[in-house]
Amino acid sequence: MQLLDGKYLSGVLVEEVKVRVAQLTEKGAKVPGLVALLVGENPASQSYVRNKMKLCEKVGFQSKTIRLNADISQEDLLLEVKKLNEDQNVDGFIVQLPLPKHINETEVTLAIDPKKDVDGFHPINFGKMAQGLPCFLPATPFGILQFLERYNIDVSGKKCVVLGRSNIVGSPISILLSRKATPGNATVTLCHSRTKNIEKYTQEADIIVAALGIPNYLKADMVKEGAVIIDVGINRIEDASRKSGYKLVGDVDFESVAPKSSFITPVPGGVGPMTVMSLIMNTMLAAENR
Ligand code: GUN
Repeated sequence: MQLLDGKYLSGVLVEEVKVRVAQLTEKGAKVPGLVALLVGENPASQSYVRNKMKLCEKVGFQSKTIRLNADISQEDLLLEVKKLNEDQNVDGFIVQLPLPKHINETEVTLAIDPKKDVDGFHPINFGKMAQGLPCFLPATPFGILQFLERYNIDVSGKKCVVLGRSNIVGSPISILLSRKATPGNATVTLCHSRTKNIEKYTQEADIIVAALGIPNYLKADMVKEGAVIIDVGINRIEDASRKSGYKLVGDVDFESVAPKSSFITPVPGGVGPMTVMSLIMNTMLAAENR
């Protein structure tokens, strides 16, 4: 069993992005810039955005978080998006999700200029991704592809099972793994809450991507010997022995599954850091495209 180490790999990619920043600025271009719109006080969202900003600093980007009250109107939020679309100093920006209940998330996503949509959430980017055209890939799937590529994991012709069909992970990674590309060319099965006998699919899989948001869902008896396990879950579960009162666990029961796997991502320290790094790489790309 080999760990797919997101902290290590993102460290390697940080150095690569630093070189690209230097190459860009040597040509007289400005330093790449990322902005995050953070609405309300969701603790997980605050922590994610903090990590994104920290990584910007590390690679030498300009970065800014715009904090907005949870009671902001749809109209005012759309105005903030418009301002960022028009701001020449901003190469890319994200609107951290989830948004408060009264906000229409789809409308906000549609308002983002696809050229600045470094989260890759806009349907224009999703459509381009599905057709194999140059685009911003959604951050988590992009991070998963980086793992497969950089650890030389053979995907072509393999049986992949994706658990979960979200717009930002399950659905796009199932498309990406089946594309005629490298990594890709896999035979992909997308399982979800209505799938019967999920274990029948997972037991046959060479590669499993677990993105359903159920703590420790995937157990050892559901995977075959030598499978590659990508755990996208980040679940906070109560842990009174910790100062924070919680601990993070994935969708994979790591302890039992790890010994059977050939490669596995830990939680934390696996897909999480790679997701943040993908956002940085998309912002780099946005700056280079300009
Ligand atoms: N909420 C959970 N994951 C993400 C992400 O990748 N981007 C944004 N904007 N919000 C999220």
